[in-house]
Amino acid sequence: PALRTFVRSLPKAELHLHIEGSLEPELMFELARRNGVDLPYASVDALRLAYAFDSLQSFLDLYYAGAGVLITERDFHDMTMAYMNRAKEDGVVHVEIMFDPQTHTARGVAMETVFAGMARALRKVRSSMGITSYLILSFLRHLTEADAMATLEAALPLREQYKDLWIGIGLDSGERGNPPGKFARVFARCKALGFRLVAHAGEEGPADYVRDALDLLQVERIDHGVRSEEDALLLQRLIDQQIPLTVCPFSNLKLQVIKSMPQHNLARLLRLGVMATVNSDDPAYFGGYVVDNYIACAEHLGLTRHELVVLAQNSIAASFLPPEQKNEHF
Ligand code: HPA
Ligand code: ZN
Repeated sequence: PALRTFVRSLPKAELHLHIEGSLEPELMFELARRNGVDLPYASVDALRLAYAFDSLQSFLDLYYAGAGVLITERDFHDMTMAYMNRAKEDGVVHVEIMFDPQTHTARGVAMETVFAGMARALRKVRSSMGITSYLILSFLRHLTEADAMATLEAALPLREQYKDLWIGIGLDSGERGNPPGKFARVFARCKALGFRLVAHAGEEGPADYVRDALDLLQVERIDHGVRSEEDALLLQRLIDQQIPLTVCPFSNLKLQVIKSMPQHNLARLLRLGVMATVNSDDPAYFGGYVVDNYIACAEHLGLTRHELVVLAQNSIAASFLPPEQKNEHF
């Protein structure tokens, strides 16, 4: 079959997806109109033209501004539903969705509104399409640890109500100058509470941040992690311990972590035995969903169909699904 048909047909999990980064310009404009929010762009096309980034921070500035149109439970529902419909087309059978509550609570949106909108969409999709999902509440690392701790405390009263979805804690936003150690205490508390732990590391930040995320935060999985290659000892540890990396090739390209797709190290990591997965990160901003990312890797890195199968299987293996649910997808 054609490459796209083949990749779509592989049962796969998406493990690195920021729901706010799935907000397409069309929906952003619709929500802005619905909520009476002013967007500083004349049109959807003008907004898309602004999506030219030279760093993680240049993207984050637009991403946080774009999230400003999200006000009501229905907004969070509609954004989540739009992503899930797109994921279904891509043959995604399970998704672990990151969300940034601080981006919303800082604007006066209630924690409950954020959870309720996403959960209504995810529960509907679970019963209608059979796609399972988990939520990973992510702290913004450019803010203080005290702010993260307060965010955790604000969310904990909702834990019981959303225990079918909210299973994990993540760490995202600007990496440089915000090392994992800054969040050691709040991550220790999250671990004691029984949450699964992940953190962005080694995207723009150095390999040291990957090691620190493992040692100081006790995370089970690294988001991005592509710069781990710069530290041979760390790389060997990732291989030996089969610590998953949730790699996002289009993101790395659009944020200029790499200069061109052929320079991406995904194939090299995979062939060394790293438990690598392919994900879309912020698909509305980076120009492609998860299958587009697999295809770009196949075309530019010479991945074989067998390697594409391995990547899809890794995504199931690296997920937080219980073993019996993983086995249904292998
Ligand atoms: N890195 C850090 N923070 C983010 C990202 C990312 O790739 N996407 C959304 N928030
Ligand atoms: Zn990310």
